[in-house]
Amino acid sequence: MSIIAARKESTTTPQAGESAGVPAGTTAARPAPADKKATRGQVDITNVRKSFGATEVLKGVSLSVPPGGVAVIVGPSGSGKSTLLRTINHLEKVDGGYITIDGELVGYEVRGNKLHELREKDILKQRTHIGMVFQSFNLFPHLTALENVIEAPIVAQKRSKAEARKRGLELLDRVGLKDRADAYPRQLSGGQQQRVAIARALALDPKILLFDEPTSALDPELVNEVLDVIRELAKSGTTLIVVTHEMGFARDVADTVVFMDQGQIVESGTPQEIFANPREERTRSFFSKVIEPAFNI
Ligand SMILES: Nc1ncnc2c1ncn2[C@@H]1O[C@H](COP(=O)(O)OP(=O)(O)O)[C@@H](O)[C@H]1O
Ligand SMILES: [Mg+2]
Repeated sequence: MSIIAARKESTTTPQAGESAGVPAGTTAARPAPADKKATRGQVDITNVRKSFGATEVLKGVSLSVPPGGVAVIVGPSGSGKSTLLRTINHLEKVDGGYITIDGELVGYEVRGNKLHELREKDILKQRTHIGMVFQSFNLFPHLTALENVIEAPIVAQKRSKAEARKRGLELLDRVGLKDRADAYPRQLSGGQQQRVAIARALALDPKILLFDEPTSALDPELVNEVLDVIRELAKSGTTLIVVTHEMGFARDVADTVVFMDQGQIVESGTPQEIFANPREERTRSFFSKVIEPAFNI
């Protein structure tokens, strides 16, 4: 593991303009409530850097989420939220730093004192532990709801069709859609499609679930049915990392709210700390724009 230490060393060097002391963006989420009893799904993001061409979009991001923890990431468009989520399941390679899930490096292995990217086959295997739900649902249009849910267990985990169907129906029931198992995506509302996508993400029994603005593409009246499903998951002990603009949801469900701006974590804390009493002016300014003023006309 010496290479990781070396890499960590090189990437924690304070950058020009960064004050000495606590590295910018280092943050640890609060422990999950004890009643969740989660034993897996510890996520540790350490000093992750990522550039696209000359633009550095993640400037040394560190975040730990404990098993069963719920971290909600908020921040302006372009601040790097999606890129950060995508590094967690290695849809994006990192240029510096590293990520572990339950202590296992994501996307890399240590060989001969160096970090080597895993082979595609192993990356895909690792990704089965990480469910991801996107803004745009990404269901297969030619498959029914149930077929969408059972595809990965059958293909990636070699489950029998009968077993996968049984589990798939349970999952559709869990998201309130058992009676729509045979519907095609085009026959479902956006909220229903997103709930199918959540059931599909659960089908591989992931250690962690990542949500990237899961309700942003929905008509307003459909947002709550999806948030309610995520609320239930939050109680279940699966580690969740959710990017959203739904501040009421963040306030109710998050153990930790993380505010990102310009490729860095500006601050993180309990919903109470971040919404009611932010330390940083950038956070205050962001929330003054996104949180609806009280209806005190
Ligand atoms: N594949 C890519 N190629 C080039 N630039 C990208 C790519 N993906 C994201 N970016 C840029 O990285 C920055 C952060 O993007 P993103 O992570 O999508 O932010 P957010 O999700 O917070 O809106 C933006 O400036 C965006 O244009
Ligand atoms: Mg985004």
